[in-house]
Amino acid sequence: MMTEENRGSRTLTVDIGGSGVKAMVLDEAGNPVTERSRLKTPKPPKPDAIIEAIAHLAAEQGEFERVSVGYPGVVTNGITKTAANLDPDWIGLDLAARLWDRLGKPVRVANDADVQGYGAISGQGIELVITLGTGFGSALFVEGKLVPNLEAGHHRFRKRETYEEQLGRTALKTVGKKRWNSRLKRAIASLEHLFNYDCLYLGGGETKKINFELPANVKIVPNVNGLLGGIALWRD
Ligand code: BGC
Repeated sequence: MMTEENRGSRTLTVDIGGSGVKAMVLDEAGNPVTERSRLKTPKPPKPDAIIEAIAHLAAEQGEFERVSVGYPGVVTNGITKTAANLDPDWIGLDLAARLWDRLGKPVRVANDADVQGYGAISGQGIELVITLGTGFGSALFVEGKLVPNLEAGHHRFRKRETYEEQLGRTALKTVGKKRWNSRLKRAIASLEHLFNYDCLYLGGGETKKINFELPANVKIVPNVNGLLGGIALWRD
């Protein structure tokens, strides 16, 4: 129940994706207190349009005192450094400051896969998180501590192509589910050799297309983790 004591720390958690922008409010313990709302990612996906979409979702979501954002690119100190699946205008933008101005509440921003990872991991051993959506997201955790901005997606995987080129949404549409699944199987084997993880979590909307039996140390996590993980950005 919402009491006066925990009113002070509700977090609006936002996930900026290539196809949708999603938001929901979490209580101090990180539990949802609202229904998730979603808008289509504006086209072209420029900063002003997406910031307005977030403001719209924020108004729908009601009251909150702080904001966490998962952004689909490299983020350092609230600044968005890459924009593989958005618009180049994002590069070098102080998203935390811009949103703080717009929403009037303090904002923290992290890579979307990092946020998804926070919502999924157990905090034990080496845990790798891969997100399969518009892009190919990756996050690495060692005993619960994040190695930020991993960006495995843009590394060479096979046939002179990156993981994202082989397994992103465009590739899925081009080569179809069957070949995409066989590529994913190989990608898992390749990532296991590289990271020797204890557990690999697969998140993102396209996990519903997986049609083979996953190894015992690989788990599919619900997409809502991309929002639930937002609470971790305020854990200090
Ligand atoms: C970006 C990553 C992001 C991933 C999933 C990639 O293109 O470079 O930072 O996590 O897409 O959105």
